[in-house]
Amino acid sequence: MRSKINQAWIDHWLGLGNVVELSCPTVTPYAVLEASGHVGEFSDFMTQCGSCQEASRADSLLEAHHPNPDALKRDELQSLLEAEKPPCPACGMTDWSEILAQNLMFNTTIGAGASGRPGFLRPETAQGMFTSFNALYRHFRERLPFGAMQVGKGYRNEIAPRQGMIRLREFNMAELEYFIDPESPADDDLSAWDTVSFALVPDGKKPVEMTLEVACQQGVIRHATVARFMGITYDFLAKVGIDMNRVRFRQHESDEMAHYAMDCWDAEIEGSFGWIECVGIAHRGCYDLESHEKATGKSLRARREFDEPRTTLVDAWTIDGATAGPAFKALAGQVKATVEGLPKSTTFPATVALENGETVVIEPEHVKPNQRTLKETGEWYIPHVVEPAFGIDRIIWHVLDHAYAEQEKNGEAYTVMQLAPAVAPVDIAVFPLFEKEGMDDAAAKIHQRLCGRPGTVSMYDGSGSIGRRYARADEIGVPQCITVDHQTLQDGTVTLRERDTGEQVRVPMDSL
Ligand code: GLY
Repeated sequence: MRSKINQAWIDHWLGLGNVVELSCPTVTPYAVLEASGHVGEFSDFMTQCGSCQEASRADSLLEAHHPNPDALKRDELQSLLEAEKPPCPACGMTDWSEILAQNLMFNTTIGAGASGRPGFLRPETAQGMFTSFNALYRHFRERLPFGAMQVGKGYRNEIAPRQGMIRLREFNMAELEYFIDPESPADDDLSAWDTVSFALVPDGKKPVEMTLEVACQQGVIRHATVARFMGITYDFLAKVGIDMNRVRFRQHESDEMAHYAMDCWDAEIEGSFGWIECVGIAHRGCYDLESHEKATGKSLRARREFDEPRTTLVDAWTIDGATAGPAFKALAGQVKATVEGLPKSTTFPATVALENGETVVIEPEHVKPNQRTLKETGEWYIPHVVEPAFGIDRIIWHVLDHAYAEQEKNGEAYTVMQLAPAVAPVDIAVFPLFEKEGMDDAAAKIHQRLCGRPGTVSMYDGSGSIGRRYARADEIGVPQCITVDHQTLQDGTVTLRERDTGEQVRVPMDSL
């Protein structure tokens, strides 16, 4: 089922037409996650029970006392914890330690012995896609927008994993990093969702219902690419069988946002645990590429050409050849390049670092004012990123939650998993009415032919009464069942039964 959901996710986003799938390492060097801000910022507030030592997330303990404790700062949480004294979920006592920020990454060592270097299991798949930016840029012929997507494991050392598949330490993610030029709006046509009224909860305000187009016009959704990705997310959740009356999009409050985000809308799904964040659609601005650029000194930029060349007057400095030449000799060229990059406000003497790493002192007599016109046909800029990030386990759990139905049949409780055919783990079940008189051979042949079709999962079941076999298939959500009976042996037809209606039709075997 997970494979099907992963594949459906990849196929769905491939529809954008300008995305590729990557597979990056899950073990990540310290420097990458230091640059990305995860070493410094990726933490939850933790407190420990003074009685049983159980660690808890401070915001989770205070859910009953604040509408959104995730948005509170450490000191605010500390005051609320002291005022409310919530009971420890493990022992019921109310004696809590001071709240501390606990980093959520699992650390490890890459390599052995003295050459071992610190690293982490990746907390998100995204970073490998940012550090691959230059390869992606070349692949897409240096034209934006384009995207990279990845399905795989993420790891977070959660303080208190709970609610089964909802909060796991090792979990399945599916993320797309979509690189855009902030000055050239992408083709964000929202007309495909003109008839859909989206349930929106904007930044701590009252819920509203409106189309994406209207939400953008009214400034409820600030960025059209974010809106389009909310629409594409909506379609994906519908495709995998989520009840769309139980989906809403909630914007993060400014204090709640991840360290890299300038805006974020979560798709929340309502299930037996209440409203749960299952997708985050974040506008990460230029945060990540800029951070990696600063940390490595390597350009992670795209070029935009101007419609017309631009000329600018540069009022700055250059070297005075008569004095700087003899003073710096072979370094004079490098000194010139460095001096011409200094702002007009520079005062001399000034100590500067040259391209080769050497430091020199420039005296006032080595320089003279310099005005020149600069003609540029384009410029290098840091692309922005919009990221839809899906928690696959949470989606699977809600697909199951919404598909689960209890019915009554012949006075007895009857369970059906009404899974969408796109995600049902078994596509079709084949039954012989009885395992004799050739019905078993005919059913086995049909099963074998179905198994030979790429992507089809068929299940043969000859055990127990036919009613029991239909019930077992319904319980695991098989959309269709084929039954071989006495008539099959005479005229080559079989019955085809639909799970949700229970209707059966006779179909010639060859037209199945
Ligand atoms: N990349 C999004 C997240 O880590 O949740």
